[in-house]
Amino acid sequence: MPIVVAFVLVLGLVAGTLIEPTAMTRPPATPGPQRDVATVYAEVCAACHGARLEGGKAQTLLDDTWTFGGDDASMAATIREGRVAAGMPAFGALLTAPEIRAMVYYLREARATLRAGKEPGTSTPDASVRKSERHPYRIEIVADGLTTPWGMTFLPDGRLLVSERPGIVRVLDLGTPLTPPITGTPAVWAQQDGGLLDIAIHPDYAANGWIYLAYCEPGPAPTSTTKIVRGKIRDGRWVDQQTIYQSPADLYVADNTHFGSRFLFDKAGHLFFTIGDRGTMTDAQSLGNPNGKIHRVLDDGGVPPDNPLVTTPGALGTIWSVGNRNPQGLAWHPVTGELWSTEHGPRGGDELNVIEKGLNYGWPAITYGINYDGTPITDATTAPGLESPIAYWTPSVAPSGIVFYTGDRFPGWKHDLFIAMLLGNQLRRVTVSGHTVTHQETIFKGFGRVRHVVNGPDGLLYVALNDPGRILRLVPAD
Ligand code: HEC
Repeated sequence: MPIVVAFVLVLGLVAGTLIEPTAMTRPPATPGPQRDVATVYAEVCAACHGARLEGGKAQTLLDDTWTFGGDDASMAATIREGRVAAGMPAFGALLTAPEIRAMVYYLREARATLRAGKEPGTSTPDASVRKSERHPYRIEIVADGLTTPWGMTFLPDGRLLVSERPGIVRVLDLGTPLTPPITGTPAVWAQQDGGLLDIAIHPDYAANGWIYLAYCEPGPAPTSTTKIVRGKIRDGRWVDQQTIYQSPADLYVADNTHFGSRFLFDKAGHLFFTIGDRGTMTDAQSLGNPNGKIHRVLDDGGVPPDNPLVTTPGALGTIWSVGNRNPQGLAWHPVTGELWSTEHGPRGGDELNVIEKGLNYGWPAITYGINYDGTPITDATTAPGLESPIAYWTPSVAPSGIVFYTGDRFPGWKHDLFIAMLLGNQLRRVTVSGHTVTHQETIFKGFGRVRHVVNGPDGLLYVALNDPGRILRLVPAD
């Protein structure tokens, strides 16, 4: 077979001792010890394409010219079947399908890193007029000196309620000096990604005063769980606390990542909240485990009778959707009323999903990402019965909070989706048509990790930054 001949010849030529004999003789599609994709690239591809994708014997993989197609499927086919006439050997006998999928991802990630250089540094935004595609605008710093602000929501009187990850709740009068923390809020397990996470008010807050908190509740060290409570603020104190949701004691876990914990109320008073997989991917598919799911409860924590799994034996009645790795963004589409969500993928594979009742979003059976150590997870990006994202990002952007802009101060942004992105320190504007992302624009970057974005009652956009902990306001300048 000419492809195999070319392949063996090439290995002899370029690889020499670089390729382990065990890998060479490994039959295709047999799951073997999985290797870091960067190592595979260095050992197998760099001899022709250059250690930094700059080219050499073969062309650079850094430019935007793709003779054989630059989409995922074409690149995978090039690697698997080779373009033998052009001198590109076939690697389908050496690399498994998941490894080829991981290689496509690796090329995208390496291209982005090598072309763009490092992450933009962090500076303090000044008051100058900034350009964007649809509106010139200015940035105002309306709160400073916060510690990892995570959630924010406006009160009916115009003050801003903010949660900070170490366990601090404040009610901010924007533009005035920081008010002291509310006392008596729950002690939180503030480790790595955990701590006090989202904060929301009841849709009928003006009448009942309920404020909801999501946080990591410490269990027997070093375990924790996501706990949701509601309470009220009276004379600067947190009072009248009630538990809305808490895992059973045997489901506390020691991992300190993937807490999810974003809140969203619907008009009927149901509370939606997210919980990430807490580092155990398979839990996202287990119906008896709360992790890796989006949940829906009544405002007092009760299970709504019309939730999808209430009659399924062994399933948690609070579950609304399954297979969500680490969702940190939730928003209602202002026209269709659909529930939209962003979720952190593994390395690559960050997702934008439209969440429907009872559906399975596939983690970890399908994903566009790979493991952080560079080993593949799967080559499957679609499967029957599993929902694929409507958009995904490779390399990662680490999408956190989201909101559809509904104000009237930036008419050109009306109903666009704004996404806070931790990676690249950027605020992204995304236009959508139906379930298709039609355009993306980075509104700003380089002022710190962007954690969350909300509509203000004044029609302006408010953005929470981490490192440094600040709240910014975007104001039109035309
Ligand atoms: C023996 C040298 C050689 C090795 C080893 C090699 N390639 Fe190639 N590759 C080529 C050549 C030659 C081409 C044809 C394109 C050109 O250079 O114009 C090519 C083309 C490609 C293309 C398509 C580019 C386009 O414009 O569409 C991709 C993607 C690619 N290689 C990826 C890889 C990856 C990934 C590996 C390692 C698994 C690899 N190559 C290993 C020589 C090599």
